[in-house]
Amino acid sequence: MDFLPGSVAVLALFAIVKSQDPTPLPVLAKITVQTGEARLFSEEDVQLNCSIPDDPGANWKYHWFQYGKRLKTTEVYSFKNAAVQQSGNYTCQGEKDIEAWPYSLNSLPSEPITVHVDGGWALLRVPAEPVLIEESMTLTCRVRDEPVLVDVIFYKDDVEIYKSKSKDLVFKSLTLKDQGFYSCRATWTQRFEFHSAQSQPAFVTVLDKLVTPVLKLEPKKSSVKRGDSVVLRCVTQLNAREKGHSIDYYFFKDEERLGPSSSHEAYTIQRAEENDAGFYTCKVRVRTLHLEKWSDRVELRVRK
Ligand SMILES: *[C@@H]1O[C@H](CO)[C@@H](O)[C@H](O)[C@H]1NC(C)=O
Ligand SMILES: *[C@@H]1O[C@H](CO)[C@@H](O)[C@H](O)[C@H]1NC(C)=O
Repeated sequence: MDFLPGSVAVLALFAIVKSQDPTPLPVLAKITVQTGEARLFSEEDVQLNCSIPDDPGANWKYHWFQYGKRLKTTEVYSFKNAAVQQSGNYTCQGEKDIEAWPYSLNSLPSEPITVHVDGGWALLRVPAEPVLIEESMTLTCRVRDEPVLVDVIFYKDDVEIYKSKSKDLVFKSLTLKDQGFYSCRATWTQRFEFHSAQSQPAFVTVLDKLVTPVLKLEPKKSSVKRGDSVVLRCVTQLNAREKGHSIDYYFFKDEERLGPSSSHEAYTIQRAEENDAGFYTCKVRVRTLHLEKWSDRVELRVRK
């Protein structure tokens, strides 16, 4: 009889777990552009595909949403003869049936993809994904029905940057300064008349490979009481095309390296003393890419 209270507790726990709502599976849905482009002219076609890259084998159903409003259930979502009104943000989510209660489970929803259906005559093609520094990039000024162009002017943040006869503008090696809004104006002739059209601006995101780290104090204040614990967190981001690189973290106080904590993004002071006061910095390094970045200095004061 001794074990009975224990079993009752276990049963009660089971009941609690079972009565909760099903949580989504920790797998993310992903939208890819299958054919065409997500920035397109009206009356063109584009097809979006929903998949669950971390669980591709399962028998998923795919639900599509526009701003949270349920659309169709289909793996490939097609826009045929796209209309300007179909512009907007789309997401998808997977659902699969399982044998046991609750009989179906959802994936996490995808990141939104922005579909821009343009009713005008000129449209600037920009990379669909953010680009990295030192990569190349081509911007293309598309004109409806593809007439022969007389000239094309490219603008960045409303300032003219380039004029040519070609519809392409090539960047050989990008820098962070290349990020911004781009647009183009094309001129062409048709039946001996000049025509001209300007595209809407499109944003190009340029990312650093290793983002300059920021040293953050937790708790979030520059002055702590003696005996308090303080966590120094070095926040950065690695944007590399290939996987498998690792970041090493180094922490410094008044230019001197602190104890071993490399490959950990946080350094903890268990009980702050007066001599912990000073200026802290962190350094991040990706050995395999020969990259190294320093944070700004952050002051820590310790009160009695
Ligand atoms: C959708 O994309 C996934 C992953 O890229 C691929 O395996 C699948 O075949 C695609 N679906 C269709 C209907 O083409
Ligand atoms: C659509 O998605 C983009 C990027 O994902 C976001 O920046 C933008 O705010 C969204 N637009 C609306 C109206 O929600």
